[in-house]
Amino acid sequence: MLSPDTSKLPTPLTNVKFQYTKIFINNEWHNSVSGKKFPVFNPATEEKLCEVEEGDKEDIEKAVKAARQAFQIGSPWRTMDASERGRLLFKLADLIERDRLLLATMESVNGGKLFVNSYLVDLDISLKALRYCAGWSDKIQGRTIPIDGEFFTYTRHEPIGVCGQIIPWNGPLIILIWKVATALSCGNTVVVKPAEQTPLTALHVASLIKEAGFPSGVVNIVPGYGHTAGAAISSHMDIDKVAFTGSTQVGKMIKEAAGKSNLKRVTLELGGKSPCIVFADADLDNAVEAAHFGVFFHQGQICIAASRLFVEESIYDEFVRRSVERAKKYVPGNPLTPGVTQGPQIDKKQYEKILELIESGKKEGAKLECGGDPWGNKGYFIQPTVFSNVTDDMRIAKEEIFGPVQQIMKFKTLDEVIKRANNTTYGLSAGVFTKDLDKAVTVSSALQAGTVWVNCYGVVSAQCPFGGFKMSGNGREMGEYGLHEYTEVKTVTMKISQKNS
Ligand code: NAI
Ligand code: MG
Repeated sequence: MLSPDTSKLPTPLTNVKFQYTKIFINNEWHNSVSGKKFPVFNPATEEKLCEVEEGDKEDIEKAVKAARQAFQIGSPWRTMDASERGRLLFKLADLIERDRLLLATMESVNGGKLFVNSYLVDLDISLKALRYCAGWSDKIQGRTIPIDGEFFTYTRHEPIGVCGQIIPWNGPLIILIWKVATALSCGNTVVVKPAEQTPLTALHVASLIKEAGFPSGVVNIVPGYGHTAGAAISSHMDIDKVAFTGSTQVGKMIKEAAGKSNLKRVTLELGGKSPCIVFADADLDNAVEAAHFGVFFHQGQICIAASRLFVEESIYDEFVRRSVERAKKYVPGNPLTPGVTQGPQIDKKQYEKILELIESGKKEGAKLECGGDPWGNKGYFIQPTVFSNVTDDMRIAKEEIFGPVQQIMKFKTLDEVIKRANNTTYGLSAGVFTKDLDKAVTVSSALQAGTVWVNCYGVVSAQCPFGGFKMSGNGREMGEYGLHEYTEVKTVTMKISQKNS
């Protein structure tokens, strides 16, 4: 996990005004067609922050029309030099950097993220991803191919078209930027739906899109709910691709809707139940800390959460002891307050889901080492919880908890732990801790996961592809691989009179 340099941390803003609360289509602000609005909350205080225009099917329709218009042959966006697309993305990054303090404060107030993390981690990852994609804009190129016969063949990596992008609440800014920047660097236009819990930073970025000078209709952002606005995207006949990050349940619905409508391309990132394997020869201090961060970062609300920790028998008791000691160190509270190290869960629904899973762990016979209850009487806080003596059949060992809850299991042999680690429907990420190179290579090759970290955990970077095996999703985001998900390859073959080598 990234450990930011906190000496550079400014003080968060106080009394942030939420200036942008409308629907962004064609570089203009719109009220919802239905006239409805929805409330947005601060999960640390349960206070309403503001009301946002509630987009649904009709508003998605308007946004798709704008995005389609912007994608027409001959439009300013389609005729723009690729290097100019890159320049606009770099400009957007500079504007986000200018507004970094405001965006980081908003991300904490609305998303319950510790300010130290929103300012130093989320903004850092977002800015780097944006600049990485900006640099790619004029380097996305096809090939010439030595075809048989008297022909000349080349490929073009063309944009797919209008891309629908559905964002979750756990990384409102990072996941927005990952999706939008990749799509734009490849020349697509987008219709984005932020999560209903956390639309505010996306709407601020919309204002910066306009300020940066992107042609109208290239980026459209429609806040609203999943079953209305989100479903309208996945079933739309004139959206060419949908990219989604969120639950497996909704991921399945999106793929089904794509199949039932126009077979739009689908990429999905659906979380996981990621194994983290610690062998007895590992550097114990490093393994305890990395495994801890791997599951407790952002109150456990991360898709890569190391939520199945397998520890070799001979170090098991000591590992549990140290993990519990580490988990007891938290200071809960308002994520803007210096010294606070744990924020709230995003909403009541998530909070109740986590507490219910904790109860199931207690009932099914896991040993509750610490935590296990809510914290305080305002805001959705849950005590950092550690379970030992967890067995693979328990719900806490199988279901994605998305909360500050660590499950520690015991293993004896390498073959056994590989089988157990892979015995899940998910396959997003995994961790291996050992000083033995042979073990590290054997285990990382055998694990069914899109990312395997060795002697570290949660290292995510713009240059690396990210995505899952199995039911953790389809496709990859970021890195050069991520660009392939936003281009169509066109083969152009021309008759010529004579071919020469
Ligand atoms: P969700 O999958 O319902 O929501 C994620 C996004 O999908 C939101 O923008 C939502 O509005 C949208 N959405 C919901 N229903 C939709 C539909 N029918 N069609 C199109 N879009 C739709 O996730 P939720 O309910 O917030 O959380 C449930 C669980 O999902 C969490 O407890 C966690 O286990 C998992 N999750 C995983 C995430 C990840 O990073 N992979 C992110 C968020 C949740
Ligand atoms: Mg849901």
